[in-house]
Amino acid sequence: MTNILCIGAGYVGGPTMAVIAKHCPQHRIDVVDIDEKKIAAWQSDNLPIYEPGLKEVVLSARGRNLFFSTDINEHISQADIIFVSVNTPTKNFGRGAGKAADLQFWEKTARQIIENSTTSKIVVEKSTLPVRTAEAMERILNSNNRGLFFDVISNPEFLAEGTAIEDMENPDRVLIGGRETPSGQRAVQAIVDIYAKWVPQECIITTNLWSSELSKLVANAFLAQRISSINAIANLCEKTEADISEVAHAVGTDSRVGPDFLRASVGFGGSCFKKDILNLVYLCDHFGLPEVSVYWEQVIKMNEYQMANFVSKMVAAMFNTVAGKRIALFGAAFKANTSDTRESAALSVCRSLLDEHAQVVITDPYALENARADLIDVIEQVIFEPDPYAAAQGAHAIAVLTEWPQYVELDYQSIYDEMIHPSFIFDGRNILNHKKLHNIGFNVYPIGKPPKTHFTR
Ligand code: NAD
Ligand code: UGA
Repeated sequence: MTNILCIGAGYVGGPTMAVIAKHCPQHRIDVVDIDEKKIAAWQSDNLPIYEPGLKEVVLSARGRNLFFSTDINEHISQADIIFVSVNTPTKNFGRGAGKAADLQFWEKTARQIIENSTTSKIVVEKSTLPVRTAEAMERILNSNNRGLFFDVISNPEFLAEGTAIEDMENPDRVLIGGRETPSGQRAVQAIVDIYAKWVPQECIITTNLWSSELSKLVANAFLAQRISSINAIANLCEKTEADISEVAHAVGTDSRVGPDFLRASVGFGGSCFKKDILNLVYLCDHFGLPEVSVYWEQVIKMNEYQMANFVSKMVAAMFNTVAGKRIALFGAAFKANTSDTRESAALSVCRSLLDEHAQVVITDPYALENARADLIDVIEQVIFEPDPYAAAQGAHAIAVLTEWPQYVELDYQSIYDEMIHPSFIFDGRNILNHKKLHNIGFNVYPIGKPPKTHFTR
């Protein structure tokens, strides 16, 4: 039996360790966190995050070989392999503020590992980190005078929220980077052996440490770049009566481009795209590559434009003022099937509408609690309403900001009947049946497609 420990029981640590525990009943997996409430939730029936299929996997292993605890020091001392999946947010102070990764949580963890270890261990970077972080980690961990040796391995996580369990069960690839020394290669093999219990060998890629660390940042940068690219073109579509869905289809059927991640939207959100690209931008500047840095920064700038421009278009369509008007925001989560609202475009739109003195009502099936916490500074100005019908009642406009499938199924005729007329729908996800909505009486504003209105020019 191998004792596996994961430090950090968040969106990555919880689901990944639950899946490892499910497939490796011969190993004991402990997941620890400083957040007592979170650990209590992992131990309960009310898990701290919403993720389809997560509860079943947790229940299949919890109490058997999967355990959640706040006793970090004790579990460090017993562990053979330690995954670290603590948060690595953007630094908001000092050098590199606003771009570089804040590695204080990561370094604290490394020091805690060394203080509580009596045996040598493998330490696995699961968090997303700047390239060459492992070097610093090795130096901190191996500066002990107790004869302990730590192999540092990079095993970045590629799961997406909302599909975390599916992504873990059937990953496109698992990436494991290590030193090219005999000890480093043995450590790589130990991590390969864990995943090989359910992941086909050909999907397990092994590389050197730096390629692995950098590949994670680059993978996110490429994905976000596709969204900013399609959103940039959506703006051109709106000026030319081209249709972004048709353009995305025509472009994406080229097998060299591929169809995924070409859905134009109000903008990408989530805890990682922005932070990881900013981190990449910082690294490029740090290594004296300003042209490369400017190139990637534009992906973020385009996304910020997309969110701001969405609100500008709303205001322009609604006769250049939304002051005092009730506007229902359908969705707070940064994407469907998650309760996560970090960097959600919905919250950015909400704040911009509040700046315009609109009366904002937000609805969401799972994310209202997180939305409340994120909007704490303006909480008095926002109405949180779980029922979308009630949210839209008496509203001038609806803005669809999260692609929850339930919003497609709503009875828009009865919603329309209860709204102020003329009524507007801004479909920031292009998920609704625009023709049908127009026939009901709505003025419909999709992304990257001509609007369907009842106004004569
Ligand atoms: P999260 O904020 O949900 O979870 C991190 C957890 O670490 C928190 O519960 C926090 O309390 C805990 N923590 C912080 N310092 C600690 C310490 N010293 N000891 C014990 N626990 C500590 O973050 P997340 O979304 O799980 O992301 C973690 C890392 O994984 C980040 O680097 C992120 O970039 C990366 N990542 C995230 C995703 C995702 O979908 N969220 C996907 C791939 C990679
Ligand atoms: C993303 C990556 O997809 C994961 O591989 C990675 O592990 C993770 O970041 C991470 O490092 O945290 P995630 O942010 O959870 O996963 O979700 P995505 O599906 O990538 O969506 C991100 C945002 O882009 C969402 O707001 C989504 O609505 C938006 N999006 C996505 C679009 O606007 N258009 C698309 O075509 C696809």
